[in-house]
Amino acid sequence: MGTARQSLTHATPSAFGATARRDAWWLQSLVVFLAFSTFLVYSTWAAFQGEHYTFGPYLSPFYSPELWGNSPHAWFGPPPNWWPSGLVRYSPAHLILWAPGAFRFTCYYYRGAYYKAFWGDPPGCTVGEPRKKYLGEHTFPLILQNAHRFFMFLAMFMLAMLVYDAWKGLWFTDAASGVKAFGIGVGSLVLITNVVLLSSYLLGCHSLRHLVGGSKDTLSDSVARFQAWKCVSCLNRRHMLFAWLSLCSVGFSDLYVRLCSMGIWTDWRIL
Ligand code: FES
Repeated sequence: MGTARQSLTHATPSAFGATARRDAWWLQSLVVFLAFSTFLVYSTWAAFQGEHYTFGPYLSPFYSPELWGNSPHAWFGPPPNWWPSGLVRYSPAHLILWAPGAFRFTCYYYRGAYYKAFWGDPPGCTVGEPRKKYLGEHTFPLILQNAHRFFMFLAMFMLAMLVYDAWKGLWFTDAASGVKAFGIGVGSLVLITNVVLLSSYLLGCHSLRHLVGGSKDTLSDSVARFQAWKCVSCLNRRHMLFAWLSLCSVGFSDLYVRLCSMGIWTDWRIL
C-alpha cells in the first residue's frame, strides 16, 4: 500500500503541466476545446437570430418549445409585450435554451471534459495540476453542479417536446388545399435522428441511473427497477459517445432548418 502511494506521488508531478507521459495527452482536451467552442459560438449566434428557425412542419430544437413567437408553432401567440426589446432583441430561444444548456453544462461527463480542456484543472491524468489542494465540488460555485438531477427533469420535458416536434415534422400541409398529409422529408429524418440521439444521451444519465436503480448505493429489490437500471447502465457505458453525437445532431438540426428556411438548402421529399 505504501509502495503504491509512493509511486502515485511520483507519477503526478507538482509543477503545472509537468508530466512523465510521452503520449499526446493534450490532444483529447484540444479536440474537446475546439468542438465545444464551435458549438457554443454557433448555438449562441443561432439563439440570437430569432428568425429562420422553422421551415414547413419543422421547428429547430434550439427554439422548442416555442412559447411566444411569430411562427405557427408558438404556444401562446406573438412575442410578449413584457420582453425588454430595447435591451435585447426578442428570440424564442432566449426563454428556453438555458434549460438544456444547464443540463449539459452540469453533466458528469462534460464536467470531466471541460475541466481539463477549458481550465486545465487537471490538465490530464498524471499531469501537474495548477493547485496543490483538491477542493472537489463541495464549495461555491462548483457545488451548484449538483443541480444536474433537477435539470434532468427539465431536459426530459424538453425531450418530450422534441419527440412531438419530430412527429409534427411528418405532416405536410398541401399548399393548394391546406390539408395536412403524412410525408417524409429529409428534414423529418434529421429531426427523428436528433430525437433518437438525444434520448440515448439523456437515458444514459448518471443521475437517472441512481434514480431508477435504488437509493443510497443499494440496488432496489424491484425487478422492474433492476431491468430499468440495466438499460440505463447500458446507455451510460456509451455516455461520452452519445453526448457528442447528440450535440452534433442538435446543432445540425438547427442548421438544416435554418438553411432550408433561407432557401439555401432544398428539403427533398422522400415520401
Ligand atoms: Fe451526463 Fe447526466 S451525467 S447527462
